[in-house]
Amino acid sequence: MVVPRESIVQPHLKPLETDALVGQSSKPSRYLPFAKNKNFIGRTEEIDTLEQKLMVEQDCQKIAIVGLGGVGKTQVALQFAYSVLEKYPDVSVFWMHALSLETFEQACREVAGVLRLVGTENDKEDVKELVQRRLSAEKAGRWMLVVDNADDMDVLEGSDGEKGILDYLPDSESGLTVFTTRDKQTADALASNSIVDVEKLDLATASHLLKKMLTRKDLEFDEAVIDELLQELDRLPLAITQAAAYVNCNPISVEGYLSLLRSTERDLIFIMSKEMRDRTRYKHTANAVAKTWLVSFEQIVRQDADAADLLRYMSCIEWKAIPRSILPAIEPEARMTTAIGTLWSYSFISTRYDSQTYDMHRLVHVAARVWLQQKGLMVETQKRALEHLSNIFPSDDYEKREVWRGYIPHAVRIRDVKADEQIDVRGKLCLQVGRCLRVDGRIRDAVGWLEESRDLRAGLSEDHSDRLLTQHVLAMAYRANGQVNDAVRLLEHVVAINERALAEDHPSRLASQGVLASAYQANGQVKEAVRLLEHVVAIRERVLAEDHPDRLASQHVLARAYQANGQVKKAVRLLEQVVAIRERVLAEDHPSRLASQHQLARAYKADKQPDRLESQRSSDADLHGVTSSSEMRPTVETDGAMPHRSRKTGAHVHSRPSQGTGEKEGARGITKLWQKLKKRI
Ligand SMILES: Nc1ncnc2c1ncn2[C@@H]1O[C@H](COP(=O)(O)OP(=O)(O)O)[C@@H](O)[C@H]1O
Ligand SMILES: [Mg+2]
Repeated sequence: MVVPRESIVQPHLKPLETDALVGQSSKPSRYLPFAKNKNFIGRTEEIDTLEQKLMVEQDCQKIAIVGLGGVGKTQVALQFAYSVLEKYPDVSVFWMHALSLETFEQACREVAGVLRLVGTENDKEDVKELVQRRLSAEKAGRWMLVVDNADDMDVLEGSDGEKGILDYLPDSESGLTVFTTRDKQTADALASNSIVDVEKLDLATASHLLKKMLTRKDLEFDEAVIDELLQELDRLPLAITQAAAYVNCNPISVEGYLSLLRSTERDLIFIMSKEMRDRTRYKHTANAVAKTWLVSFEQIVRQDADAADLLRYMSCIEWKAIPRSILPAIEPEARMTTAIGTLWSYSFISTRYDSQTYDMHRLVHVAARVWLQQKGLMVETQKRALEHLSNIFPSDDYEKREVWRGYIPHAVRIRDVKADEQIDVRGKLCLQVGRCLRVDGRIRDAVGWLEESRDLRAGLSEDHSDRLLTQHVLAMAYRANGQVNDAVRLLEHVVAINERALAEDHPSRLASQGVLASAYQANGQVKEAVRLLEHVVAIRERVLAEDHPDRLASQHVLARAYQANGQVKKAVRLLEQVVAIRERVLAEDHPSRLASQHQLARAYKADKQPDRLESQRSSDADLHGVTSSSEMRPTVETDGAMPHRSRKTGAHVHSRPSQGTGEKEGARGITKLWQKLKKRI
């Protein structure tokens, strides 16, 4: 059996795949540091492209294979090299490792040995120049050179006045060069537009590879588990072969390995940092998934500090669906685009169709965190990320829901990192997220976030506005969640403090009274609700303009309370006023306008048949449900702490409800409004 040769950094070893032929003749020679990989699968498209371009159409002499570290570039190049040897026997094939000038020189020495250039008077010469001259000469015949790991431009071009690898590459009309590189920009510099992209494997090939590499006899394959594992490993060949090697060498099932990956961050990092032997890779390069990109991270730090900053930040938020707007801004815009371009160039991120949303490679995300930990930058970076996110997190404006919906998963990840510091920032972020979730109808989640904010703010003084605000919003979420008692208790506390600390017409004081009144009503304490709302409305009528959303909202709620209290005529009068104004200032389909029209219809109905008020209310349950949930939106916020701008889009329809409260007018009003509402709801 042939033992694969893994290192070209061992000058005393004879190359495995050599045909030592006379250097002076043009008979083909070969030097490849690895045996043919018997487990190689797939990649037919990439290999066909290489053959077409280089051997068949011969439309270029240089080509670059580009892709993420560990995706299988070396294997594609190797497989292609062997196929060239088989199909084109007149072509010599050589391989050079371009990790550093030293590895390159070592390869040159091997090639020089194969070409019989050593052991002569040439010994005194630089072996790199010797090989270069020999292969550049016409008599060298046809050759193909693979330059593997051409990643570092400093090594390729040379630095500090020293020559680089490119200065030593042979050039001949009959010579072809295949580079492999992780960086698209480098690929472009080396081979202009002749580039072959290597992407992660498709699911079927990935599954095939994993099963092939799992050699333990006692293993049983559950397809569903295999698929899930491949998803966790993001179908990256290196991650697959490392996972298989781990399972082969440890008493663990595939399922067990999968649960290790999914358990704690520490387990994940441990597993991904575990170095398993790999005969298909160079001896001194990292095989562990979490380590394989460390070199590239450092390269990015040297090459593009902005990109390095983005990478650090991205490793603290969720790895997928990263909106551009959530990234720390870099000015000017072109600098930002360049920084994103650098990360994209290394295949660390991919862009979605709109170019404004990015996905980070799942395992790169883990590796970047390992990198931060190694550098001792983890805590600091997480702090900055938390601060940034809480600063840019949008308000709970329903119109901006696409934005905050996109941000929430990132806040979730940041929230998962528990720390005793930055209590204030955490409290703020939890409140912001909780608010948005409440507006989005995800009430139970909202309660969780808001309770966390409440706990984080428990250390503030009792009358601190931040603490009260969180309690206020939490109480609203409690109410929406059916925890009416909790809502009432909390709001009574907030109102008591506000009444002590704030002026009678302070918006926050009025807002909390309004919300408490609603909670009272929901709790069946209708009289308390009416009393409190009359007070709020009286003050708002004094201090706010007639069409101010807060004034209208509290009038609406008061009217509802009147009706619940049997004061139907009062309810009708007030609602007619609200509807008239909302029809004037809001669009036809605005939820607040619809809500008050609906409420008025109910009042008309109740006015017509006061004795059937109760049964009518229950028969209206479905419509009532829609209305009350729409009232959780900020636009219909009855007593929210924040005033909301009314939306004035669409044509205004001046279909004023009947002003009278008589049976006939009432019935007409109801019919008209019901028709309108049924169309909308
Ligand atoms: N097509 C393939 N078939 C079988 N194994 C592969 C294939 N591609 C990659 N591998 C394995 O995946 C790992 C990483 O591949 P490698 O070629 O070293 O990646 P890269 O050069 O892109 O860093 C190695 O263990 C390699 O043997
Ligand atoms: Mg490689």
